[in-house]
Amino acid sequence: MAILPPTDETIRRAAALLKAGGIVSFPTETVYGLGAAAFNAGAVARIFEAKKRPFFDPLILHIAEITQLDDVAAGIPEAARRIARRFWPGPLTLVLRKKPVVPDIVTAGLGTVAVRMPRHEVARRLIETCGCPIAAPSANRFGSMSPTEAAHVEYQLGNSVDMIIDGGRCEVGIESTILKVEEKSVTLLRPGGIPLEELESEAGHIGIGQSTGAVEAPGQLPYHYSPATPVRIVEMIGERDADDSGAALLYFRDRRGVISGANARVLSATGDLREAAANFFSMLHELDRLGKSVIIAETVPERDLGLAIMDRLVKASKKTEGGP
Ligand code: TXA
Ligand code: MG
Repeated sequence: MAILPPTDETIRRAAALLKAGGIVSFPTETVYGLGAAAFNAGAVARIFEAKKRPFFDPLILHIAEITQLDDVAAGIPEAARRIARRFWPGPLTLVLRKKPVVPDIVTAGLGTVAVRMPRHEVARRLIETCGCPIAAPSANRFGSMSPTEAAHVEYQLGNSVDMIIDGGRCEVGIESTILKVEEKSVTLLRPGGIPLEELESEAGHIGIGQSTGAVEAPGQLPYHYSPATPVRIVEMIGERDADDSGAALLYFRDRRGVISGANARVLSATGDLREAAANFFSMLHELDRLGKSVIIAETVPERDLGLAIMDRLVKASKKTEGGP
C-alpha cells in the first residue's frame, strides 16, 4: 500500500485501481473516505471487510457533477434539487429514493440512497477520472475516530487498502450533515459540516430524525467515533482534572492563553466553533496516542457546528458505557 501525493499521475493510478475493483482512501473537505467504484458490488464488499463494518450500515455515494444525482436517485423532490444547488459541492449528504442500479450492498437493502458532492478538489478529480460515483464511508475502523489526515488512515487501515492519497489535513474536520428529503418533509439524520441553521434558511423547518433509529440510519449507533482511551465529558475542566497526570485534556477554549502541557489540547483558543470542528478529530487522535487512562473533554455550545461536535463527543464517550 502506497501513500502518494495528489498528482495527476496518482489520480490516474487511483482511478485505474478503482475501475479494477480496488479500494482507495482519498481526502475530502470533511474527513478521509475509503472508496470503491459504486456499481461494483464486490469492490464495495472489500470496504466493509477493511473497516470491519457490519453490512447493515449503508454507504454514501460521492459524485462530481450534479447530473450524476439522477443516475442514482429516483423521484427527486424539488426541495432536494434546491438544497443541492445551494450547498453542493460541500459537506452535505442527501438521502433520497434509490434507483435499481445502485447495488444493495451500498444501501444495506434500504429503498433509499445517500448522495454527496464533495468540494475537495482531489475527491472531485478522482470521481471524474473514475467515471462513476464512488461509494465511500469514512476511512476508519468501524466505531473508531474518523481520519482527518492520511496518517490516521494508515495506522487504522494500513495494508488493507490499495492506496492512500495524501491531501493534507481536512479543512472541515467532521463528517457531512445528512438530510433525508421527502416530498413533504426534510429530516436531519446526522448533524455535520453544514450547520442546521444555515440549512433551514434554504429548506425551511427541518425535523430532527432518530439518529439512532434502526431503519433511518443503521450506522448511527449510540457508540461511535471512539478513541481507545475512555472519554469523560465535563462542562468545564477544573483544577483537579488538570493536575491529574493520568488524564489527557481536551479544552473547548482558552481566552486567557494560560493552558499548556503535553497532555492538553485546546479546540479553539477564541471559542470559534468552525476552528473547533476542524481540530476535533485530530486532537482526539493525538490525545488517544498519549495512552492516558482517560480523556476529559469539555462540552461545546450546541449551536452551529457545535451540534455536530457534541454529537461525536457524546458517542465517543458511550463506548466507556458498554460499546464494543
Ligand atoms: O463527510 C462524510 O459524509 C464522509 C466523507 C468520506 O464523505 N463520509 C462518511 O461516511 O461519514 P460514513 O459511512 O462514515 O457515514 C455515513 C452515514 C452512516 O452512518 C450511514 O448509516 C448513513 O450515512 N447512511 C448512508 N446511507 C443511508 C441511507 N440510505 N439512509 C440513512 N442513512 C444512511
Ligand atoms: Mg464514519
